[in-house]
Amino acid sequence: MEKFEPKKQRTSVRNRAIAIKAFRCKNLIAVIEDPTDISNIGAVIRNANALGVEKVYIVDPLKALPDDWQELREQRAISKTSVSAVKWTFVKRFDSTELCLDHLEKQGFISAVTSPHVKGKTNVFLHEGDYTEHTKLAVWFGNERQGISKVAVERSEMCVAIPMFGMIESLNLGTSSGIVLYEVTKQRRKYQSKYRRGQQKGARAEPLPTIMPRDDEAL
Ligand SMILES: C[S@@+](CC[C@H](N)C(=O)[O-])C[C@H]1O[C@@H](n2cnc3c(N)ncnc32)[C@H](O)[C@@H]1O
Repeated sequence: MEKFEPKKQRTSVRNRAIAIKAFRCKNLIAVIEDPTDISNIGAVIRNANALGVEKVYIVDPLKALPDDWQELREQRAISKTSVSAVKWTFVKRFDSTELCLDHLEKQGFISAVTSPHVKGKTNVFLHEGDYTEHTKLAVWFGNERQGISKVAVERSEMCVAIPMFGMIESLNLGTSSGIVLYEVTKQRRKYQSKYRRGQQKGARAEPLPTIMPRDDEAL
């Protein structure tokens, strides 16, 4: 059933939805591979939404999630852990890593995996990478225990690592998604503020803003 929202609240939600549109990173997808902890799924969706990532794909071989987006949005656990971000984020599930990669590649997406370890052909530290090179980019995050799969690494252009300085081997999945996606979206927002892609390709006469005023600043 539709939740009742007063008219004023509905208008401010609509205004916010319009205002954020220009800041969203087009053709950027965050992929979570075989996540087991619902709070991590919620955290990645929340981070993706907050940072302006266009979509979230979830590889879910155990079929723990519903196929239907609407049903997924209504799942209490995800809605709660993502603090309702799932309501505002496009989320799609896949039965396997191969199927997700097939879908991405068919749409012209290039994949980049993330791992604390050296994997695959090209390994970069987060701050050294250029995430604007490819118009369509999918950034992969691995399972909490096994990390990213061999298949995903093999079909990816690069492996990105957040530098580590502690005694532990890795960061938490939700935390690493926030750190990685912050850098990737920052670079892509800066790029799309200066250049158009697609048919109207080229430099803009005036760069677009890359920062959104906060609600209290806009008053
Ligand atoms: C808890 S970690 C998995 C640890 C696993 N033992 C491994 O070997 O990767 C879950 C996911 O978070 C991301 N991650 C964690 N630490 C990272 C780091 N330092 N750099 C990049 N990604 C990291 C990766 O996507 C990783 O697959």
